[in-house]
Amino acid sequence: MSSDIERRVGSLLNSSESQQAVPVNDSSGTPARASNKSSAGGNVRKSDSLLDMDSAKEKLSLELKQRQENMKASNSLRAMQSFREKLPAFKVKSEFLKAVAENQVLVVSGETGCGKTTQLPQFILEDEISCLRGADCSIMCTQPRRISAISVAARIASERGESLGETVGYQIRLEAKRSAQTRLLFCTTGVLLRQLVQDPELTGVSHLLVDEIHERGMNEDFLLIILHDLLPRRPDLRLILMSATINADLFSKYFGNAPIIHIPGLTFPVAEFFLEDVLEKTHYNIKSEFDNVEGNSRRRRQQDSKKDPLMELFEDVNIDSYYKNFSTSTRKSLEAWSGSQLDLSLVEATIEYICRHEGDGAILVFLTGWDDISKLLDKVKGNSFLGDPSKFLVLPLHGSMPTLNQREIFDRPPPNKRKIVLATNIAESSITIDDVVHVIDCGKAKETSYDALNKLACLLPSWISKASAHQRRGRAGRVQPGICYRLYPKMIHDAMLQYQLPEILRTPLQELCLHIKSLQLGTVGSFLAKALQPPDTLAVQNAIELLKTIGAVDDMEELTPLGRHLCTLPLDPNIGKMLLMGSIFQCLNPALTIAAALAHRDPFILPINRKEEADAAKRSFAGDSCSDHIALLKAFEGWKDAKRNGKERAFCWDNFLSPVTLQMMEDMRMQFLDLLSDIGFVDKSRGPNAYNQYSHDLEMVCAILCAGLYPNVVQCKRRGKRTAFYTKEVGKVDIHPASVNAGVHQFPLPYMVYSEKVKTTGIYVRDSTNISDYALLLFGGNLIPSKTGEGIEMLGGYLHFSASKSVLELIRKLRGELDKLLNKK
Ligand code: CDP
Ligand code: MG
Repeated sequence: MSSDIERRVGSLLNSSESQQAVPVNDSSGTPARASNKSSAGGNVRKSDSLLDMDSAKEKLSLELKQRQENMKASNSLRAMQSFREKLPAFKVKSEFLKAVAENQVLVVSGETGCGKTTQLPQFILEDEISCLRGADCSIMCTQPRRISAISVAARIASERGESLGETVGYQIRLEAKRSAQTRLLFCTTGVLLRQLVQDPELTGVSHLLVDEIHERGMNEDFLLIILHDLLPRRPDLRLILMSATINADLFSKYFGNAPIIHIPGLTFPVAEFFLEDVLEKTHYNIKSEFDNVEGNSRRRRQQDSKKDPLMELFEDVNIDSYYKNFSTSTRKSLEAWSGSQLDLSLVEATIEYICRHEGDGAILVFLTGWDDISKLLDKVKGNSFLGDPSKFLVLPLHGSMPTLNQREIFDRPPPNKRKIVLATNIAESSITIDDVVHVIDCGKAKETSYDALNKLACLLPSWISKASAHQRRGRAGRVQPGICYRLYPKMIHDAMLQYQLPEILRTPLQELCLHIKSLQLGTVGSFLAKALQPPDTLAVQNAIELLKTIGAVDDMEELTPLGRHLCTLPLDPNIGKMLLMGSIFQCLNPALTIAAALAHRDPFILPINRKEEADAAKRSFAGDSCSDHIALLKAFEGWKDAKRNGKERAFCWDNFLSPVTLQMMEDMRMQFLDLLSDIGFVDKSRGPNAYNQYSHDLEMVCAILCAGLYPNVVQCKRRGKRTAFYTKEVGKVDIHPASVNAGVHQFPLPYMVYSEKVKTTGIYVRDSTNISDYALLLFGGNLIPSKTGEGIEMLGGYLHFSASKSVLELIRKLRGELDKLLNKK
C-alpha cells in the first residue's frame, strides 16, 4: 500500500496515535456506517476537503481489501487458516454476520474455546474490509482483564499475518499498541468506560463487542446500563454480547429480547472425581473413614425430617460439625475444602499422583488466588516436591499479572516436559490452554463480599458456583478426553449455587459511584436502579457517604476536583488519595509501596508450621512502630537491598516473604508512578528525589496512611492492663492475629487506622497502624466544632478532641491549605 495515502488518510482519520481509545475514524465526525456508496451519490455539494477525504477513504478501503486478499492467498497462513476453519465458530460465520447486519443487539453464547473472542470480531473485520467499508469501520471489543486484551489482540494479528498494532491493536491502561490503521481494537472494559467520559456517544465506533458478560463483573454490568441508554441515540451502532454458555437469556431480555446465537461446542468427555476418589487415589487412604462420616450425616438427615433438607446440607457444608469426625491427620489434609486457607498439600499430592500415574498432557490447577499460586510456585521453585525440576514447566496465570508470557502458556512444552499451569478463575473462560488434559479444581475462588449494614467488605475464598465448576471441568477436554479432579466432596458440589452473585451486588460501590458521577449519568441511585440486577440502596448510600467523607464529592453529590483526580486512577478511592498525598508531601516511595500491597496483597507468607518464626520476622520489620504497614514497607526495602546484592533468595527465605509478590508490587509501583505522572501530580523529569524528601520520616508515613485510610479509624481504650478497640460502625473489634499489633497491650498513641475489617469468627481489623491525634486532626476527615464549643469532632461526632481556640484556628488554616493542594485543578 502506498505509504503516502496511508499517512494522509491516517492523519485525517485519527489525528494522533494517542493513548485514548478513540475510534479510528472519530475525528471525521461522520457516522460510522455512512457507507462509501452514499458519499458518492450525496445531493449536498461537498467542500473540496470533504471530497478529498471521501476519495482518500475509498482508496484506503481498496488498499485494505487488497492487502487482506493477498494475505489470505499466501501460503504462510495456510495452517492458521485451517486451524480457524476447524473452530466451531466458523460454522456459524454467515449466520452471525447476517444477524449483525439485521439487528442492533445480538447475544452470542458458546463453550469456552469455540472461537468467540478470536473469531467473531475478526469475521466482522474481514467482512467490513471485503465490502469496502474498511476505512469507515471501527470495531471495539472489551475484555475484563488486561492480560486477555493483549493476548487476544496478538493472536488475531498473527492469524491475519500482521504485526500487532496494524489493523488489530490493543489498548489497556497506560499501554497501547495501535496505529492509524487499526480497525479492530481490544481494550479493557475500564478503558472503554474512561473513553465514555470524553465521548459519551462513542462517536465513530461501528461495532462494539462486550466479552465475558457471563462473569457479571462490575464494569461489564455498569457498561451494559450505559449502552442500554445509548443504543436509541446511536441506531447505527452494533452491539454484540459474548458469553460462555451461561444464562444468555438474561442478557437477551435486558436488551428487548435480542436474538441469541448459540455456537455448539466441540469438546471431549471429561471424567470427574470428587474428593472422596481423589483421596483414595492419592493414598490418603481414608475413603472408609470418609464413607462413615457421609453415612452418619445421611442417617442424621433421615432422623430429623422436619428440617429443610437443603438447609441441613448447608449445615454439613459448614464443615466444622461435619469434619470433626475425622482423625487429626485426615482433617489436616481436608483443609482444602473447609476453612478459608487452602491446604496446598492436597493439591501437591494430586499433581504428584497425576505425574506418576496418569498419561501425558498439561495440568491446569485452579487455585483461589495469588496467595496460593505464589506459595505453590515458591515451593516448586525453591524445593520441588516433584523431584527433578527440569521435567516440569510450571507457569502462573493470574489476572493482575502485568503481562502474560504468552507463548509459554499456549504452546506445547518441549518433549519430556510437563506443563503445569497454576491459575485463578481467569482460566475458566477468558484464556484457553488447548493441551490441558488434567484439571485440578480446588472449588473455591477469592470473592469479595459486602455487608452493607456493618460496612464490611471482605475478600475471602468462597465456594464457586455450579456454572463455574462446570466451566473448570470443561477445560480438560479440549484436545482429547480428560480428567477433572475436584478437591471437594460431591455433596458440596450439589449444594453450590447455580450462578455466582454478580459483583455489583457484593462489592462496595464507591469506585463505581465515582465513575457514574464523572460520566454525568445523573443521581447514582436512579442510574443504578436501571441495572440488570440493581444493588441494595444501603450499599449505594454507604458509597456516597464515603465519597463525601474523603472529599471526593460535595454535599450536592457533585465531584470535587479531588474526586475528578480519583476518577482517573483505576484504584479504590482511598488508595488513590494515599498516592496523591504521598506525592504532595514528598513521601512518595512509601505511599507507592503501601498502595501496591493494599491494591494487590502483602508479601508476608504465613507458613502453618512455622508461624511463630514468621510472626517474629514480621515484628522485627515493624520495630517499635506498631504498624503492619511500616512492616511491609521495611520488608520491601530490605528485599530491594538484598536483590541489589544478589541475596534475594536467602532474604525471602529467612524472612518468610514471597519473592513473586514482591516483584509484583515492584511492577505495580511503576504503574502507579505512571498514573500519577499522567494526571500531573508527579513530574518524572524531576527525578525520584523530588518526591521523597520525607520518605524516611516514619511519622510522615503514618500521617499519609491516615489520610489514605480514613475513615477506617479504631479508638484504643485502656481497660486496666489491656487495650480494647472500637470502631464507629460495629463497636468493639479485635486486632487480626496476623498483625504485629496482635497481643500488644499498650500503645503509645490513642488511635489506629486500618486497611480493612473482616468478619470470620469475630470482627477483626487487618493491617493496622497506630497513629496520633494530630495525624487525625490534620489528615483525617471533616472537622466539626463540638456543640459545647470547646473542641472539635470528627466521624460525625464519634471522635472528640479538645484543644484551645488558637490551636483549633491553626489546624483549620493548615487544613485549608491542604485542601487547596489536593483540589488543585
Ligand atoms: O472466546 P472463546 O473461549 O470462545 O475462544 P477463543 O479465545 O477465541 O479461542 C479459540 C481458539 O484459539 C482456542 O482453541 C485457543 O486455544 C486458541 N488460541 C490460541 O491458540 N492463542 C491465543 N492467544 C488465543 C486463542
Ligand atoms: Mg473468549
